[in-house]
Order: sequence, then structure tokens, then C-alpha cells
Amino acid sequence: MKVAFVSGATRGIGRAIADRLHNAGYRVLYSGTRPERPADLPEDRDYIGCNIADGEQRKAAFAYISQHYGRLDVLVNNAGVAPLVRQDILQMTEESFDRVLDINLKGTMFMCQLAANYMLSQKEHWEDSPRIVNIGSISAYTSSTARGEYCISKAGLGMVTQLLADRLAAEGIPVFEVRPGIIATDMTEKVHDKYAKLIEDGLLPIPRFGEPDDVAKMVEACCSGLLDYAAGQILNADGGFSLRRL
Ligand SMILES: NC(=O)c1ccc[n+]([C@@H]2O[C@H](COP(=O)([O-])OP(=O)(O)OC[C@H]3O[C@@H](n4cnc5c(N)ncnc54)[C@H](OP(=O)(O)O)[C@@H]3O)[C@@H](O)[C@H]2O)c1
Repeated sequence: MKVAFVSGATRGIGRAIADRLHNAGYRVLYSGTRPERPADLPEDRDYIGCNIADGEQRKAAFAYISQHYGRLDVLVNNAGVAPLVRQDILQMTEESFDRVLDINLKGTMFMCQLAANYMLSQKEHWEDSPRIVNIGSISAYTSSTARGEYCISKAGLGMVTQLLADRLAAEGIPVFEVRPGIIATDMTEKVHDKYAKLIEDGLLPIPRFGEPDDVAKMVEACCSGLLDYAAGQILNADGGFSLRRL
């Protein structure tokens, strides 16, 4: 059975991705920061706590994958955080910058590195290409001056995807990025009304919040093998936000 690891799968977009891959027949290792499995996770799902900002925990997660499954077919780097406090870029603190960059950018980069090296070490046993999918954001190219550290982290993540896609293409490991727009999760809960008004006023060509499963469907498409010759591409799960309009 193919094995998938999904970071940040306790809730929100990551949970939808993990559930979708489970339903597609993968053995999915759900992951989040909390050491204990979430109470609402069905018994037939596997769980491991892994703070991706912590190098020892990253290594421990891959040791677990190696010991328990002996293979990894898909890594979905979904775990990510917004700043704890929205603050103008002129007041943004180093502490907040470090926290957001450590998780969203450094954590994801080194999860990719661990996965790629592990996948390559298993190459003689591959039945199909393994794949890596990073969850970016429209914030990679959209300025939000009250959460600059988040935008910087997601812009950097775009280059992580590009670098890994380039390095791993000839090795047979396609790497993709899915960029959500405005998705209804805990992350956007605090600013729900603000976004609802923007959507009502015409921000999005598809005039509704995205659902976690809108993103999960694109991740499943990336894992399907149908998109492999498009390795390195960005799929915008954004209701048309990225369209230029006049
Ligand atoms: N929602 C949106 O509109 C939107 C838009 C663009 C991009 N995104 C991106 O999509 C991804 C998921 O967002 P979401 O809205 O589903 O977020 P969410 O509802 O806040 O859930 C975040 C998930 O990430 C996990 N997580 C947080 N910090 C972590 C860490 N240090 N190590 C490992 N896991 C960690 C959380 O685990 P615990 O439950 O254990 O804390 C949780 O499972 C993020 O990368 C986010 O930047 C979201």
C-alpha cells in the first residue's frame, strides 16, 4: 500500500488532504504539533506528533516512517502558521519573524530534504514515482502589510518548490506547489468577516470562500501521476484570485 505523510493534518486544509488521500487508498500518516492523536481522528488512521520547526522531531518522524512502513510515496508539506498577532511591517518583531519563518519556510525546506533523501534511498523498490506537494499561498506574491512575515515565508516557499522540483525532476520525483487563496479554516476565522465582505464586493471571480477540500482535490491530482510532466508547476486553489482583471 502506498504511504503518504501529511503535515498539519489535525484540522483544516491538511485534514481534508489526508482524508482525501486515505479515501484514494493511501496509508496516511497524519501529523500535527500535539503529541497525542486528535480525539476526532478515526481509529484506523495513523498519527504522529511532529513540530516541523524542530530538527529532532523532523528526523524522528522519518525514522518512524522508515521503521513502520519502509517506504514513502507522498509527502504533503501543509503545516503552516500565520503570525500570532497581525502587526504592521514597520512594527513586526524579530520573534514573530523567526517563528513564522522557522515553521513555514525552514521546517518545510528540511522536510523536503529528508523526504527526498529517504525516497531516493528506496529507489530500487519504487513501483511508481514518489511525489512531494508543498502548500504555499497567494501571499507568495500578494502584499499584506499587516502580516509581512507570512508573505515572506510563502514567497520563500515558492523558491523551495522550484529548487526541489529542479533537483528532483531527473531523479523521478515530481514536486508541485498548491497555492490556496481564502479558505474557511481556523486560520482565517479571526478575519472571516473582513474576507466575507471583500468576496461580496467582487474580490474573487468564483464568489465564495474556498473549502479545505477545494485544495485537497488539487493535491490529489498532483499525487495521481497525471500531472508528472508538469513538475514544478503551481496550482492556484484560489477561486480565480490570481487572474488579472480589468
Ligand atoms: N486558510 C487559508 O485561507 C490559507 C490560505 C493560503 C494558504 N494556507 C496554508 O495552508 C496550510 C494549512 O492552513 P489551514 O488554514 O488549514 O491552517 P489551520 O487550520 O490553522 O491548521 C494548521 C495545521 O498546521 C499544524 N501546525 C501548525 N504549526 C505546526 C508546526 N510547527 N509543525 C507541524 N504542524 C504544525 C496544526 O497542527 P496543530 O493542530 O497540532 O496545531 C494544524 O494541523 C498552511 O500552510 C497555510 O499557510 C491557508
